[in-house]
Amino acid sequence: MDKTAAPLRPLIAGNWKMNGRRASLDEVLRLAEKLGGRPPEGTEVLLCPPFTLLLHFRDALAEAGISLGAQDCHWEEDGAHTGDISARQLHDVGARYVILGHSERRQDHGEDSSLIRKKAEAALAAGLVPVICVGETETERDAGKTAEVVVGQLHDSLPEDISHDRLVLAYEPVWAIGSGRTPTGEEIGMVHSTLREALASRLDKPDFVRILYGGSVSAGNAADILGIKNVDGALVGGASLKAEEFYGIIAASRG
Ligand code: PGA
Repeated sequence: MDKTAAPLRPLIAGNWKMNGRRASLDEVLRLAEKLGGRPPEGTEVLLCPPFTLLLHFRDALAEAGISLGAQDCHWEEDGAHTGDISARQLHDVGARYVILGHSERRQDHGEDSSLIRKKAEAALAAGLVPVICVGETETERDAGKTAEVVVGQLHDSLPEDISHDRLVLAYEPVWAIGSGRTPTGEEIGMVHSTLREALASRLDKPDFVRILYGGSVSAGNAADILGIKNVDGALVGGASLKAEEFYGIIAASRG
């Protein structure tokens, strides 16, 4: 597919979810070694470990030219919110990105798009770039509602004042996450172009917002997925846990 007009630097993001211990630093060092000190020219790599590992991984990631991100944040700066972490606290330990609205948070914690928007506003105020996730369930997909659902989530989750260089969007069909199933290339392309059009009504330079695809991305399918028009990177769960597999995905972004 034609990617010649793509102005964007692809972003390959790893979401470790609730996985990893301090000893997992070895996996990060293995990835750094494979990358030979820095990501391939023109590609940005991001790793979002659990909160407990942010500081532990920070220096090794920085040395390898890999950005650091978190998986969620609270919408307040500080205060009486037992068990929560604020965007400012994430920024304080070196995070530059934060994933928001992942379907596992929407489902497990009942988060809705208006809450995601508050969190995204907090992230921006703290100097973080939100990676806002949208995606349909299998039932919604079967009912032909994919476009309606993802565009609705996008509009409701986006802060009022948003600029192309302070936002990453991720399309993650809920049924594709951790399932080994992915939509067809054509389906992914259609959803991404629909999201791009929706962005056009919200900000000046919609073509400059990176829209990632997430859901069962592997070293085996990455080249095909990353070659689809309007796919500007990947949000990778399970396959980001092993250096070998994650490296395979990063290498595929070179095209
Ligand atoms: P997966 O997860 O790559 O394991 O399917 C993706 C995600 O949830 O971000």
